[in-house]
Amino acid sequence: MQDQLSALLSKAQTELPALKTRPEFEAAKARYVGPNGELTALIKQMCSVPKEQKPVVGKLINEAKTQLTVLLDAALRQIEASELAAKLGPAIDPTLPSPDFALGTTHPLTQVREEMCRILRKVGFTIADGPEVETEHYCFDALNTPADHPARDAQDTFYFPADARFGNVAKKVPGEKYLLRTHTSSVQIRTMLKGQPPIRIVSPGRVYRRDTTDATHSANFHQLECLYVDKNVTVRDLKALLDYIFASLLGKDTKTRFRPHYFGYTEPSFEVDLSAKHLPKVNKDWIEIGGCGMVDPTVFTGVGYDAEVWTGYAFGMGLERLAMLLYGIDDIRYFYQNDARFLRQFA
Ligand code: DAH
Repeated sequence: MQDQLSALLSKAQTELPALKTRPEFEAAKARYVGPNGELTALIKQMCSVPKEQKPVVGKLINEAKTQLTVLLDAALRQIEASELAAKLGPAIDPTLPSPDFALGTTHPLTQVREEMCRILRKVGFTIADGPEVETEHYCFDALNTPADHPARDAQDTFYFPADARFGNVAKKVPGEKYLLRTHTSSVQIRTMLKGQPPIRIVSPGRVYRRDTTDATHSANFHQLECLYVDKNVTVRDLKALLDYIFASLLGKDTKTRFRPHYFGYTEPSFEVDLSAKHLPKVNKDWIEIGGCGMVDPTVFTGVGYDAEVWTGYAFGMGLERLAMLLYGIDDIRYFYQNDARFLRQFA
């Protein structure tokens, strides 16, 4: 009996660790400890063992049974581990650099902003910046905007409560309110207050209006503002610069035209239209793109410049509108949804 048991165990020691699959395991288990298994057959022989040998043989059988159970458990754990490894795929080394090393791409609005700044830098403009939280003074008063101008209306402008505090933006007039700037024209004033002419700045940035979102409106969008102050600046210089930047950005077939308009900070003032039939999805003859004009002498006087000496032009335009024109995008909301399927097209 003892020989049979140790023969059985040594067979199990070579056979069981080599099992690869669950069906193989189940079959082996049945062969050893199942109702017709080899160990079971040996246990059945217990009844023919002489009575005085029974305790010894019983002990040997129990030991063999325990060892078989250990071997079977180990074989099963090994099979489970290889099943899991197969499910997980090849081993991962978390210390390696990501295989997905492709860089993201710049947003189409960033691309248009950077291209416009590059075009303007080429002709001597530098980048200027201003806060998005503004005061009524910088956004309206200093720009000679009449007290009853509709742009100031709470329906168009986001005002902060009277007790709102912003440490980085000083109020110029006691009691005036903070607001989210409705245009980048406020940067004109901040720039002029900081230095003396000649001035040539471009200021791209985020602006806010109480607009209901639809395909062409967003309560939050981007503008690009330019200001040029020097001696003897004329409307011809303004028109020439606009012709140059739009031809550079949108192609040499692009034309511009001025339509008389009113802005408090420029006199005369114009709205600027573009003709760019060569661009995809452009089916109108003229598309309004921004506002411009010759800096109003009142604005110069307000920032302490001698309006008899200095002349200048200013203009502002929406970056979304430009990007939509350039890329043939027909809904402004795509810019803000961060949908990779949209963004990837501008890689
Ligand atoms: N601030 C105007 C707007 O938001 C655009 C504009 C018009 C800017 C005339 C200017 C300007 O600098 O001179 O609609």
